[in-house]
Amino acid sequence: MCNKCKGNYYITTPIYYPSSNLHIGHAYCTVATDAMARYKRLQGYNVKFLTGTDEHGQKIENKAKEAGVTPQQFVDNIVLGDRGVLDLWKLMNISYDRFIRTTDDYHVEAVQKIFKKMYDNGDIYKGAYKGKYCTPCESFWTESQLVDGKCPDCGREVVEAEEEAYFFRLSKYADRIQDLLENTDFLEPRSRVNEMVNNFIKPGLEDLCVSRTSFTWGVPVDFDPGHVVYVWIDALNNYITALGYENDKYDDFNAFWPADVHFVGKEIVRFHAIIWPAILMSQGLPLPKKVYGHGWLNFNGEKMSKSRGNVVDPYLLSERFGVDALRFFLLRTFPFGSDGNFTNELLINTINIDLANVLGNLVSRTTAMNQKYFGGQLGQGGESAPLDEELKTLAADVIANYEKQMDKFQFSVALNEVFRLLDRANKYIDETTPWILAKNEQTMPRLLTVMKNLCECIRIAAILIEPVMPDSSKAILDLLNVPENARNWDAKCYCADADAVWTTSTGAALFPRIDMEKELAALEELSKPAKPALEIEPFAEENVDFDTFCKSDFRAVKVKDCKNVKKSDKLLQFTLDDGTGTDRQILSGIAKFYKPEDLIGKTLVAIVNLPPRKMMGRESCGMLLSAVHTENGEEKLNLIMLNDAIPAGAKLC
Ligand code: MSP
Repeated sequence: MCNKCKGNYYITTPIYYPSSNLHIGHAYCTVATDAMARYKRLQGYNVKFLTGTDEHGQKIENKAKEAGVTPQQFVDNIVLGDRGVLDLWKLMNISYDRFIRTTDDYHVEAVQKIFKKMYDNGDIYKGAYKGKYCTPCESFWTESQLVDGKCPDCGREVVEAEEEAYFFRLSKYADRIQDLLENTDFLEPRSRVNEMVNNFIKPGLEDLCVSRTSFTWGVPVDFDPGHVVYVWIDALNNYITALGYENDKYDDFNAFWPADVHFVGKEIVRFHAIIWPAILMSQGLPLPKKVYGHGWLNFNGEKMSKSRGNVVDPYLLSERFGVDALRFFLLRTFPFGSDGNFTNELLINTINIDLANVLGNLVSRTTAMNQKYFGGQLGQGGESAPLDEELKTLAADVIANYEKQMDKFQFSVALNEVFRLLDRANKYIDETTPWILAKNEQTMPRLLTVMKNLCECIRIAAILIEPVMPDSSKAILDLLNVPENARNWDAKCYCADADAVWTTSTGAALFPRIDMEKELAALEELSKPAKPALEIEPFAEENVDFDTFCKSDFRAVKVKDCKNVKKSDKLLQFTLDDGTGTDRQILSGIAKFYKPEDLIGKTLVAIVNLPPRKMMGRESCGMLLSAVHTENGEEKLNLIMLNDAIPAGAKLC
């Protein structure tokens, strides 16, 4: 810790499952954590902000299999690939200090040591895991994961099954955990405490299954091959392995543990507020100071999910509205501990009202007036009036409240405070009417003070919004040419006195107004599922009667010879063995799809009772069957090919 630092501060996000793309709900938690980390840095703390990815488990193993890649390739692509997790956090200005992947060697080794330590101290023991098993997917599911009693992945029947597994003696820690939850501020918001105690602890904490043998994509239990560590012992310990606990990769454990706060979504509070403290207790380690369970973002009133097709893409929104506007919207609109309902209207309204009308307008009016009346140079001097005191008092009040609310993770209330100052400053312009003061030489000193007061309000607001909108904060402070030493937390005092001088510039609108109707239409268009690249022929409207259909004689035929037809770029001439002992000749307009030599020896399907036709002066006795479709506007054709074991002449029916 350096001399100037207020102390160390360790904050974490949950590590994300790279099983599908991240949506705005995932971004919500990360943006909040980032804002907190930036706020603490601004205050002078030595911050460690950890995020990462939770890469093991059966689901990933299954998905990789489906995609025809190894699990490592699968997760690498989602984490490191184009528009992957790391790309998104970069785009969204997430200032993490450390990124952990649970597949990192140092984490894997440390988890093995932790598992062994807990086994040696008797907290992990061997037993049998009973659950619902889907044989084709080779997956165990819990009762609550089943959909209509069937496998959630493939929809097939599941069976009761049992496998050997290790268990963590969670039940042993029930009393200590209950005491921790009920008698300390360990878990917030407070409402989540009752939920944990009433739903999970009081009904009786069961021991937790912590290994599996039915899949291999996990941290191997080194003293019992065949077992992999199952989920939470692997995932939760990331918070300490990332500091160097039980590994040599890092050396910050003593400096940063216990964590100041773990931010987590409400559905994983249980794992962080019950299982995690028990795992730490078992290792004799100090507990984190706080777990904060934030609410969920729904979309248009419904839970966001890939299968519902209503996930909101943070890439798309950042690109259309700007990263700062999106970050601001998330933290300004939804109280952090409660659920929120995301709608595009709300997003656009927030940008138009708060950012364009209030913040953007105040900055552009002030800098434009500075330019017009003083050429951008506010020199020494000025004349105060009683109204200025009100502004000063309000600014001091806003700063104090903002700090109080940020320290309680109440981002929306803290931002509300900043807007109290901005609203007051806009009103101050209307009250002081600078355009009238500018008309008279005698009122110019008063105008000078008015403009300095406005600059000072903007400077303070720009510092306070830095954690949420880092780029906009910098852009505003740059417009006001605020020196580096007046951009920090200690310089958030009110200094618009006679000695102060300002040199300000003007620039393009920080937050241009958005046309609601046009933008909603554009977003709707963009959210429509992409037109399928594949097109198939419309189905025939007219039915054929069965007897007519049965008259068509389809046979397996073997290609004895195939060649291009001279002067035709379409036709191929086939010599076919149709099983009768006499060669059959068919001409087919498929030259642009196949090279003749590639077809020799293949077993195809021909309809053999069509009347013979002449093509380019040659006779064609029948037609070869193909599958046709259009792909990205291009016609595609595939000859129907049969297994070569089928003899020439075999009838298809
Ligand atoms: N891998 C576990 C966490 C392990 S921590 C040791 C996990 N991953 S997750 O990718 O499914 O979720 C990551 C975080 O995103 C969780 O905190 C979760 O609550 C949050 N969100 C996922 N969807 C969300 C919303 N729609 N709204 C807000 N947050 C949500 O859980």
